[in-house]
Amino acid sequence: MPTLTVDGREVTVPSGSTVLQACEAAGREVPVFCYHPRLNIAGNCRMCLVEIERSPKPQASCAMPAADGMVVRTTTPQVEKARKGVLELLLINHPLDCPICDQGGECDLQDLTLFYGPDHSRFAENKRPVDDKNLGPLIATHMTRCIHCTRCIRFISEIAGIEELGATGRGEHMEIGTWIERAVTSELSGNIIDLCPVGALNSKPYEYRARTWELRKTETIDVMDAVGCNIRVDAKGQEVMRVLPRLNEEINEEWISDKTRFAYDGLMRRRLDVPMVRVDGKLRPTDWRTAFEAVRARVQTSAPERIGAIVGDMADAEAMVVLKDLMARIGTPHIDCRQDGAQVEAGARAGYRFNTTIAGIERSDLILLVGTNPRYEASLVNARIRKRWRQGGATIARIGAAFDLTYPVQDLGAGPETLAEIVAGNHSFCKLLEKAEHPMIIVGQGALVRKDGGAILALARKLADSHGFVRDDWNGFNVLHTAASRAGGLELGLVPGEGGRDVAGMIDGCRTGAIDTLFLLGADEIDMTALGDAFVVYQGHHGDTGAHRADVILPGAAYTEKSATWVNTEGRAQRGKLATFPPGDAKEDWRILRALSEALGHALPLNSLGQVRARMAEISPVFDAIDEIVPAPWEPFGTEGEVDGAALVSGLINYYATNSIARASATMAACYEASVRPEDSVKTGTHG
Ligand code: SF4
Ligand code: FES
Repeated sequence: MPTLTVDGREVTVPSGSTVLQACEAAGREVPVFCYHPRLNIAGNCRMCLVEIERSPKPQASCAMPAADGMVVRTTTPQVEKARKGVLELLLINHPLDCPICDQGGECDLQDLTLFYGPDHSRFAENKRPVDDKNLGPLIATHMTRCIHCTRCIRFISEIAGIEELGATGRGEHMEIGTWIERAVTSELSGNIIDLCPVGALNSKPYEYRARTWELRKTETIDVMDAVGCNIRVDAKGQEVMRVLPRLNEEINEEWISDKTRFAYDGLMRRRLDVPMVRVDGKLRPTDWRTAFEAVRARVQTSAPERIGAIVGDMADAEAMVVLKDLMARIGTPHIDCRQDGAQVEAGARAGYRFNTTIAGIERSDLILLVGTNPRYEASLVNARIRKRWRQGGATIARIGAAFDLTYPVQDLGAGPETLAEIVAGNHSFCKLLEKAEHPMIIVGQGALVRKDGGAILALARKLADSHGFVRDDWNGFNVLHTAASRAGGLELGLVPGEGGRDVAGMIDGCRTGAIDTLFLLGADEIDMTALGDAFVVYQGHHGDTGAHRADVILPGAAYTEKSATWVNTEGRAQRGKLATFPPGDAKEDWRILRALSEALGHALPLNSLGQVRARMAEISPVFDAIDEIVPAPWEPFGTEGEVDGAALVSGLINYYATNSIARASATMAACYEASVRPEDSVKTGTHG
């Protein structure tokens, strides 16, 4: 551990640190452009120059290893002069269009120029023009502003794991772009907007719509998948203007997926903002009282065992617990939060959680993927697996359909019988398993939504038991959920009670008439055509498939419009906050359900958010430990049985349209179009 002196202060830093890190440890701020702590060092902008004793000229501190006895100075006249020189050089070609540049107010170049920049330019020639590149529907480019720091290139190749951005030309003719003009295909591409230290890369949907100081910033949680990425929602008035990542080392580090970042425009489209009741075959706007009365009239004439409730993928825990209590009061056992029919049970918590934790992936040396495509199901989990692979010494293997996961994967087989062979010790992979110190298995929804999902889960458990996946100091058994509501729903026990029907059973019941009233809490991903003559009450925020089929619509709040709790796939409860108010008459879901319980004559004693949360904590300790992980005991789960030989496939077909918000988003639709037909991302004159 070298000890060095920075501006007269002695610091000891871990071996392998750079001079820049030593300066940071000493509390000195050194300006940077190309350096980023999560990317490889490029050392090409020279902004971080510092003086090092016995060195003839200033040195780039980000690329210089810290050595014992070094004496570093960060604020001498020579350093100041060097920084001024670097900025003068950078500004030669920079267009200085700050008044219209979207990065204004968040631009590193603007900030540093204010401190060190020259007050006039000695450059009298023409500035260098560079053509803008077409990187698809998400990223706007103004490449004349680019300072060639290469952060975007390094992110796309190192972290996103695709080779689509690079530099062409040399010296004055160097340009950053895709080799062939096309949309970047990474689902993490939006992060390069945050990384770009100047205004060369901007968000296309957000461009020219607001200035940073006009925005109201709310720290909350994403629900586009079950990772629970920490995000910041920036709103202007009633409209969400952009979604940005928030640092959380345990979950998303400082990245988010493109769906999380860009699907927000769906929040303003196809919204349900007034209660509706179907009259003469048509849904007509009405008031809350009439809508509740329509539900009451139906529930009163229906027997409890003919009423069912299905919970959708983005429901919050507050709404779910009130729904559970309401259904219990009505007296029906038919309730289910596993909209896609996943064969996971609510009892043994270790059986439905990502026990290793997302950060824990970095400790594993062998990762077995079963029926999952983490790249599209949980992009940040995939980024963590890639990070682990880049560190070296880890094997990643897969059972299921093959696709590019951005790191090399050993394909062991397509169907669950391969898993059975490994459990029986008859597969060559067992040799690797024996050597692994921290093996982990990730069972995806592609394996669990099948009829034999319970048997596959039981097999995976057997593997974990027989091959050292679970010990006192390590739990390598993981289920990767895709729905933000799922782990919370299971924690709260939203599964069929004694004699109750699951989702498939309820749909079947609707078809045969055994179920005549179905309550959908934001459930849109079931086959609505199979619901027969059932009376459907849809509570949710978007006019998606559920609302089209509904007889009564109760308008709810979307994830940015309520203070609510979600439990991520790790079993970590996190609180989201209200960033904008719900539109029109829409309300927080738990409030609607509480009011409905009164209208139905089953008033629940849950009158405040505090009482609802206390009820949640009564059911599961997870809700008493916000942001933490409550360890789950290793108990039996899964159902013994035969597995079917069919190949395991990932359930997600269109990454850009997995929920009602994404389906309403014009940006997501444009991404889908660009991803399936890349040639169309460059529009011609005939496109208007
Ligand atoms: S586009 Fe931005 S991030 Fe990429 S090299 Fe240029 S300045 Fe750096
Ligand atoms: S930050 Fe050190 S050279 Fe760019």
